[in-house]
Amino acid sequence: MTPVADTNNPSPHTAETYQQSLTVTFEFPVIFTRDVFAADNPLLADVLDRLGERRRHRAMIAIDAGVDQAHPDLQHRIKEYFHAHPDGMELATITVLPGGEVAKNGWTVVREVMWSIGSAHLDRQSFVIAIGGGAMLDMVGFAASIVHRGLRLVRVPTTTLAQNDGGVGVKNGMDEHGQKNFVGTFAPPFAVLNDFDFLATLSQRDWIGGVAEAFKVAIIKDAAFFDYLCDHARALDQRDSAAMEQTIRRCALLHLEHICSGGDPFEFGSARPLDFGHWLGHRLETMSDYTIGHGQAAAIGIAVDSHYARQVGLIDDGDLQRILDGLTACGLPIWDDLLDRRAVDGTLEVLEGLEQFREHLGGRLTITLPDGIGRKTEVHQMDPGLIEKAIDFLRGPAAS
Ligand SMILES: NC(=O)c1ccc[n+]([C@@H]2O[C@H](COP(=O)([O-])OP(=O)(O)OC[C@H]3O[C@@H](n4cnc5c(N)ncnc54)[C@H](O)[C@@H]3O)[C@@H](O)[C@H]2O)c1
Ligand SMILES: [Zn+2]
Repeated sequence: MTPVADTNNPSPHTAETYQQSLTVTFEFPVIFTRDVFAADNPLLADVLDRLGERRRHRAMIAIDAGVDQAHPDLQHRIKEYFHAHPDGMELATITVLPGGEVAKNGWTVVREVMWSIGSAHLDRQSFVIAIGGGAMLDMVGFAASIVHRGLRLVRVPTTTLAQNDGGVGVKNGMDEHGQKNFVGTFAPPFAVLNDFDFLATLSQRDWIGGVAEAFKVAIIKDAAFFDYLCDHARALDQRDSAAMEQTIRRCALLHLEHICSGGDPFEFGSARPLDFGHWLGHRLETMSDYTIGHGQAAAIGIAVDSHYARQVGLIDDGDLQRILDGLTACGLPIWDDLLDRRAVDGTLEVLEGLEQFREHLGGRLTITLPDGIGRKTEVHQMDPGLIEKAIDFLRGPAAS
């Protein structure tokens, strides 16, 4: 190999550089389906063998405790499914893990998953099949990505938010150091199976949570989808399954299009367009000790950043009103009293979220804002005074 010559280097110190380059291609299907564990549904067995290996695939099943409780027959159905496909798959173990943010808070549950993988003697070509909400999927995905430097992960997201955002992408994580997703890896899954049948048992909070992510991506990327969400806000609130499935499909595909075609799937740059509203949302989640749901916190963040966008002339009064009306019509919040909380020096505590967001992404602060509806722009600083005005404005409608 010939070193890369540096003819411009006047320094007396020599350096032989051998420039390396490698490309790794990831492929994974995201499938929308129903009744994935019906014994006569071949989908899961086919997915495990999608590389045509024609062998008996070993799999560990991890179930979110909230899903396990809401679907008491699930474990039995999973066992029956493996019995019905004896040639292609073998059930190593089933483990039930805490659901909700507590699952990804600190190392306890992550370690439990790693131990289960080890005790079941799964190898790097074995599968971890994780069934649950976004938090539990983040945590199991993280554990699966570090044991043996990465096992195959199949996600079966069971909330609207996990199906249209959290469970379909390439990231996982856990909360540490008082910050959301402080620890984690980029690790694309082997497959994602979005089974709509799980959604019927969601609480109203977790049913509507995913719609906040849909508003987020529609406002910055897809004006027609934004119209759809505004038109169907009440139907979504009233648990119209057809409207929700359409919302999930469109939102998931917009996220995937960004991840797979946006040019920066592992976020090496400083921009994260899909996190519109999230610098504040993430901060509110931690400030509330995770009593505010991720979707609800995102909705408040979207409301504040949309008002900010109005103040700097990126959207007009009509756009802002439609955003706020759309969010509230489907039962999402645009206010929380934590927005008013101040540190001892008098500054709003939420403002700390800006620096945490910058540090998490690295480089220059980059915040995505709408530029009209369906388009986005990036700004590299946020005026605290205008954020405070946005908060003042939102306190008004919330109080009334
Ligand atoms: N990795 C990513 O790219 C990404 C993206 C967005 C969000 N997230 C993360 O996702 C998390 C939020 O996920 P979420 O909104 O799915 O909530 P969640 O995972 O916190 O789940 C909420 C509750 O619903 C229960 N539950 C799950 N499915 C159920 C079902 N079918 N029936 C009844 N109960 C059920 C859970 O047990 C939990 O109590 C946050 O931690 C967020 O940071 C990750
Ligand atoms: Zn989000």
